[in-house]
Amino acid sequence: MTRIGMGLIGPGFVGAHHIEAVRRLGFVDVVAVAASGEASARRKADALGVPKAYGSFEALVADPDVHVVHNTTPNALHVPVVMAALARRKHVVSDKPLAPTAEAAFGLWEAAAAAGVVHAVTFNYRGNPLVQQAREMVAAGETGAVHFVHGAYLQDWLLQPTDYSWRLDPETGGASSAMADIGSHWCDLVEHVVGQRIVEVLADLTTVVGTRLKPAAPTQAFEPAADAGREAVRIHSEDLATVLLRFDGGAKGSLAVGQVCAGHKNDLWFEVNGGRASLRWRQEQQNELWIGRRDAANAVLAKDPSLLGDAARRYAHLPGGHQEAWADAFCNVHRDVYGFIAAGGRPADPRPPAFATFEDGYRAALLVDAILESHRRGGVWTKVPALVGPRLCGRS
Ligand SMILES: NC(=O)c1ccc[n+]([C@@H]2O[C@H](COP(=O)([O-])OP(=O)(O)OC[C@H]3O[C@@H](n4cnc5c(N)ncnc54)[C@H](O)[C@@H]3O)[C@@H](O)[C@H]2O)c1
Repeated sequence: MTRIGMGLIGPGFVGAHHIEAVRRLGFVDVVAVAASGEASARRKADALGVPKAYGSFEALVADPDVHVVHNTTPNALHVPVVMAALARRKHVVSDKPLAPTAEAAFGLWEAAAAAGVVHAVTFNYRGNPLVQQAREMVAAGETGAVHFVHGAYLQDWLLQPTDYSWRLDPETGGASSAMADIGSHWCDLVEHVVGQRIVEVLADLTTVVGTRLKPAAPTQAFEPAADAGREAVRIHSEDLATVLLRFDGGAKGSLAVGQVCAGHKNDLWFEVNGGRASLRWRQEQQNELWIGRRDAANAVLAKDPSLLGDAARRYAHLPGGHQEAWADAFCNVHRDVYGFIAAGGRPADPRPPAFATFEDGYRAALLVDAILESHRRGGVWTKVPALVGPRLCGRS
């Protein structure tokens, strides 16, 4: 198989996981990283065992050995970084949110479609074997028609006033904080599993921690910062959200999102209730899928390739009883994307399910914008605009 060269821009918290994921595929060479300066790029490249280091993203995208550009920079840089890669006609894997606004996300989808390259967004929870199992069960009618979809995505890493992230500053994170950062994952995930789209939202957003002590120097996500030289800053973006949902297939839903909820680390969960059965999956116990029934005993399906459906089975790589985790699901997403690239897939070709595209990134941005709009208007039902666009790629 021809080897594929990968270059990553923004080697922070999640960037390291992109690198680890593609290395596990066996046919991808991590060629270069780019950071905001030469010295930090060299330091990161050495720490990650990557040969080349660039002090600017423009230099990385110009490297002919880089065939696929990964974007893991703070949100405000997503547009210039991705546009630079597309201008060089490189395939792009961007982390979420694709862009700070739906309008900007649409521009990236349009530019990627025009460039004719492969484009992906890492909505990585799609890569969990039991998420694919739930999707397969809903599609096969095992739940019956779905009438309720509910859940939450809760974390606690921004609970204290001394906790700070670039996500909270609209200049670097965008107008939305918690919804764009983690709520977008939940919305993509449930639409993917249920096969219905959220068409209307009613949102109530809150800023629980209104003043934070911003560290003098930026830190990586989830890492503590020094106390010296902190500056008090007002926070306007949401760290807590409750949202009611209406789906195009008739289902109703509700979602709670928060990054100020003590004890919840990466607590994403959803439950689907249908006419025949319910399903519940929780990221922190991701090797189990709860199946709720009215006329038979409830069950817990433990992840075991021999018990999974045909479509879900290939996302499980270890036998039953051998736990798989966040990094394995993350790798599954990259396996789908790079398998597609290696096979010479064109953007309009059918894609494997864990492979979300810029179309899906735009879709998530439309949802976040509608949620912000609903809240701004005082918490009223707000339509999510229908997805129209270049339509050069098929839906997953
Ligand atoms: N898919 C997921 O589960 C997941 C998890 C975490 C973060 N993310 C997303 O990934 C992105 C990065 O988040 P993170 O938590 O890794 O942030 P981070 O702050 O840990 O890392 C960002 C990196 O970008 C670098 N950077 C800043 N300016 C740059 C520039 N001009 N050129 C090159 N590099 C530059 C920073 O030095 C830092 O190393 C965000 O968009 C975030 O939403 C996704």
